[in-house]
Amino acid sequence: MRGNLCAGAALAALLLTGGAGVAAEGPTIPAFVKGDAKALEDRIIAWRRDIHQHPELGNRETRTATLVADHLKKLGLEVQTGVAHTGVVAVLRGAKPGPVVALRADMDALPVTEKVDLPFASKVRTTYNGQEVGVMHACGHDTHVAILMGVAELLAKRKAEMAGTVKFIFQPAEEGAPDGEEGGAELMVRQGVLSSDPKPQVIFGLHVGSDAHAGEVSYRPGPAMASSDEFKIVVKGRQTHGAYPWAGTDPIVAASAIVNGLQTIVSRNVELIKEPAVVSVGAMNGGVRDNIIPDKVEMIGTIRTFDAGMRAQIHTRVKEIATGIAAAHGATAEVSVNLGYPVSVNDPTLSAWAVPVLEQVAGKDKVSLAPKAVAAEDFSYYQQQIPGFFFYIGVTDPATPVDKAASNHSPHFKVDESGLLVGAESMAALTLAYLNSH
Ligand code: NI
Repeated sequence: MRGNLCAGAALAALLLTGGAGVAAEGPTIPAFVKGDAKALEDRIIAWRRDIHQHPELGNRETRTATLVADHLKKLGLEVQTGVAHTGVVAVLRGAKPGPVVALRADMDALPVTEKVDLPFASKVRTTYNGQEVGVMHACGHDTHVAILMGVAELLAKRKAEMAGTVKFIFQPAEEGAPDGEEGGAELMVRQGVLSSDPKPQVIFGLHVGSDAHAGEVSYRPGPAMASSDEFKIVVKGRQTHGAYPWAGTDPIVAASAIVNGLQTIVSRNVELIKEPAVVSVGAMNGGVRDNIIPDKVEMIGTIRTFDAGMRAQIHTRVKEIATGIAAAHGATAEVSVNLGYPVSVNDPTLSAWAVPVLEQVAGKDKVSLAPKAVAAEDFSYYQQQIPGFFFYIGVTDPATPVDKAASNHSPHFKVDESGLLVGAESMAALTLAYLNSH
């Protein structure tokens, strides 16, 4: 994608599309996008409500996948099911030759009991990692699926005007697979979703959020969402009577010193002016009663970064600090780091190209630069393979201040469905503008 951008491409797109919806600069979107999307709005909302009422956890999205696959087959797409467990991948070929664009929607819900008063609220309960839980689309992935189903229909009806190919990726388990299972974007990539024919050159994805009003769109070029890794430290000492601490080795004191030592990683070691980072200890367990110094203390925590080098540096420093401080106390520390999602990096060139498209869709005053998000997103695995652009769609009712709106993952998370139209328009517009200008 890099190096292909030029004024000539924009002009060619202008001629190809009849020049409607023309912005002062940048790629142009076909005039039919808004009307076509509007005509699909009621059905997108109906799909979203159906999926909302029947949420499924990661790697268990069988009903959702069937709904998606049936729809895509009816549209005449080449549909593959059972990818990375329950994923659906479909290919739409335009009438004219051109590049391949991938579009991704995640399908999974969360173990959250819905507390929103809606006629289509979820009443679903299931077992998750051995516990009985409610299930809710508390992160809005129901809207992502419905939006992409709408975009598939819009593009399928316009394939005569389409110069290139679209690969639709309906992905399971973005929120993580159940214990002991693999899943999500990492598994889809490993199963060849981006390397098999037709091989996409770029990928687009979106996420709805409570932090903006319906109608608003935001984006962040470069590192946009954090990597997320879990660490575990087991500090081993020697058990003894609490009244005779000199007779043993106290892992509680050593572990406390380690917690303090970990605070120096972000403040003293990482190059803070380059990117922020977070190291937090989330749990610390050891001992059973007041007068016994225990054998060991276990602690777990999270590491968030926006840079692959810093990520590696922090992993090294956690190990050095924990083992070094433990040794100074006559104890030992075993450190393990469980790799989570990598940093989500929006390709800067693709982002710069995409912003004028979003501005044409939503209006210049509704498109803004988003702050970095310390949450993680497995769209990052696709972005490690090909240039990708992941952007945000507001879904808070304009009458509610965003700081009063229940956040994503809350049992009170409520979607203003008027935001879905903007999502569908954006995805369709990005796809057509890319295909017609590359
Ligand atoms: Ni999400």
